Amino acid sequence: SVEERIDDLMSRMTIEDKVYQMCQYVGLEHMKAAESKISPEELEKNDALGFYPGMRSDSVARLAEAGKIGSFLHVVTPEEANHLQELAQKSPLKIPLLIGIDAIHGNGLVEGATIYPSPISQAATFDDALIEEGNRQTALEMRANGMHWSFTPNIDVLRDPRWGRTGETFGEDPFLVGNMGIATIKGLQSDDFSGQNNVIACAKHLIAGSSSINGLNASPTDVSKRTLFEIFLPPYRRAVQEANVFSIMAAHNEVAGMPGHMDKYMMTELMRDRWNFQGFYVSDWNDISRIDIWHHVAKDFKQSIEFSINAGMDMNMHGPIFDKLLIELVNEGKVDEARVNEACRKILEVKFKLGLFENPFVTVEKAKEVNFADSHQKVALEQARRSIVLQKNKNNFLPFAENGNGKTIFITGPNADNQTTLGDWVSPQPEENVITMVEGITEIGTKNGYKINYFDSGDRSKEITDENIDKAAQQAKSSDVIVLVLGENSFRHDWKRKTTGENIDRATLKLSGNQMKLADKMLSLGKPVVVVYVSGSPIAEPWLEQRAKAVLNTWESGAFAGQATAEILFGEVNPSGKLPLTIPRSVGQLQMVYNHKPTAYIHKYNTEKKKPLHPFGFGLSYSKFKLSAPTVSKTTFEGLEDEIKVTVEVTNTSNVDGEEVLQLYIRDNISSYTRPVKELKGYKRVLVKAGETQTVELTITAESLAMYDRDYNFIVEPGEFTIMTGNSSADKNLQTTMISVDSKIMLDKNN
Ligand code: IFM
Repeated sequence: SVEERIDDLMSRMTIEDKVYQMCQYVGLEHMKAAESKISPEELEKNDALGFYPGMRSDSVARLAEAGKIGSFLHVVTPEEANHLQELAQKSPLKIPLLIGIDAIHGNGLVEGATIYPSPISQAATFDDALIEEGNRQTALEMRANGMHWSFTPNIDVLRDPRWGRTGETFGEDPFLVGNMGIATIKGLQSDDFSGQNNVIACAKHLIAGSSSINGLNASPTDVSKRTLFEIFLPPYRRAVQEANVFSIMAAHNEVAGMPGHMDKYMMTELMRDRWNFQGFYVSDWNDISRIDIWHHVAKDFKQSIEFSINAGMDMNMHGPIFDKLLIELVNEGKVDEARVNEACRKILEVKFKLGLFENPFVTVEKAKEVNFADSHQKVALEQARRSIVLQKNKNNFLPFAENGNGKTIFITGPNADNQTTLGDWVSPQPEENVITMVEGITEIGTKNGYKINYFDSGDRSKEITDENIDKAAQQAKSSDVIVLVLGENSFRHDWKRKTTGENIDRATLKLSGNQMKLADKMLSLGKPVVVVYVSGSPIAEPWLEQRAKAVLNTWESGAFAGQATAEILFGEVNPSGKLPLTIPRSVGQLQMVYNHKPTAYIHKYNTEKKKPLHPFGFGLSYSKFKLSAPTVSKTTFEGLEDEIKVTVEVTNTSNVDGEEVLQLYIRDNISSYTRPVKELKGYKRVLVKAGETQTVELTITAESLAMYDRDYNFIVEPGEFTIMTGNSSADKNLQTTMISVDSKIMLDKNN
């Protein structure tokens, strides 16, 4: 058995060998790129000290050969993966390497991979099965390229969209985030991640970095314990209990004074001991050293390691010296050997289960076959189609008429003809693998008898010059309709042009640079304007939306963004995406979430409305749906295993087939602690043919009604609950009924 194999191997390992398994380094090619940026003298000095950047890639290669490295990250070719495994095979114990990568929406750091829509887009599909399927395919691409561990899902519940990593999240709702996280983990890991087709997942980042002060990455988070338990922790509990996620990454930030990388309560007492986490913890890049450097709660790196490992950390993401200092700490009795054994066991378990001891190598030709396989392209396209949200469609302006009769569509804007649609954590992809907006619209538009006229406005600030805006206006004058492709840019390898993404946070939710200037000019021409947003984070431009005929929010819909968008514009596909977060009108409205507490809007602003620009769960369709009021299978919920079925009839009253996402929200009417005005507890995507009706059933379980009591037991309190169903979180879109609970139900006792 795996257990016996681990016992046998560990019986032959010294404490040093075990510590080496806890060490992770960035790939050699990545290191070489960093080396090239510093002077030879500095390189020599840093290498002697073992610092990064500067520790030379050849020194790291020697460590791998000596068996002093357990894992690598950011290895982006099968050739490099094989090379590293060859080095490891030269080591005395020949323990294969575990290779990790940020395969966030496809194995995107690899050139030629399938790029699926980014997580925020995936959440907008409200389609768990389709997301699971995409991740199953990503696991295949990863394994074919020699990678075994994806640093995803990011199940940080997004509460502040200024955070640049918004596009990497599944939005603002704990239930939706939890479901999407589980779909991702199941797709990547399968049931127990054994075999050649699976990889392990990594839930990140523990915890609440998505709600940092000022919206700035890594700045402190200061939320209450209750908010942690109600909003931020549920997806982690579920990732562990429902999907057996096998790794968790700690967060850069502190919460209430406690840096994530040394939070023993979070890592050990709560996740491992109470919620039974079976996997291992990895630090974020260099973050153990930041316990002293950033947070100033340890006097040096050694003490930081002591605090972190004793809190439950199992692997150090990147860098030397960690091993030496940890060994010293064990010898000094400051870190228990049992902790090292525990960490090493888990890491070896993964290597055995994934079959790395049998064969750590991959076939380079096979990688080429599996990357961007036809079946993967199909799923990426389908995800894109279902993720795009139609935010406005005045007088059914869209779709464009089937026959263009030679009419001209003018396209411009900074995201019209480039790879910004791919989102963050993606390397530039071969042009032939990506359908840009202009390409998609040209292809389908021309087929339908339209003329397409494109002007490259240039990128946001520097290039959308007055001169370019005038040129665009000249060219647009002869057209019949204008398509403006606006938004932000989180494309990782376009550092100079990035306006959002990791470590690029936003102080405003408005369009950056001169985009509004360009839009104003286009709108002044008196022609109908369709706005297409490409952005991982929400755009708050109420004035623009008011003046546009239609607004299509395509988020970052991946390699096939242009095709899916064009199919929607020309009516080949009926839009059905729903917003996974509230779109505020302005940054001043933040925190703006649908599941707020009852007193959140007792008062009003002097200069801003209380309502958002668009509510969570909202998204238009070319069909018209009529939803019945909910009916329930019974009105009293009785005990832990009980279920109540909620039924709604969804009728398509239009002559266009369409998909609708039925949503179920619940409110605990009177509770011992204040509870949100509504919380999403179920949803189902359903295809309803023109003129037909579908009966949709959703289920209420004890968990749908539960809350944390004074002692943080997870319970259902007796009382009445309002059941709301509809096609968005806005009250006007919801119909209600009631159920009740007679006596208290205990789901999870806090011992
Ligand atoms: O996985 C990421 C993490 O989300 C942010 N810092 C770097 C890690 C590895 O790339």
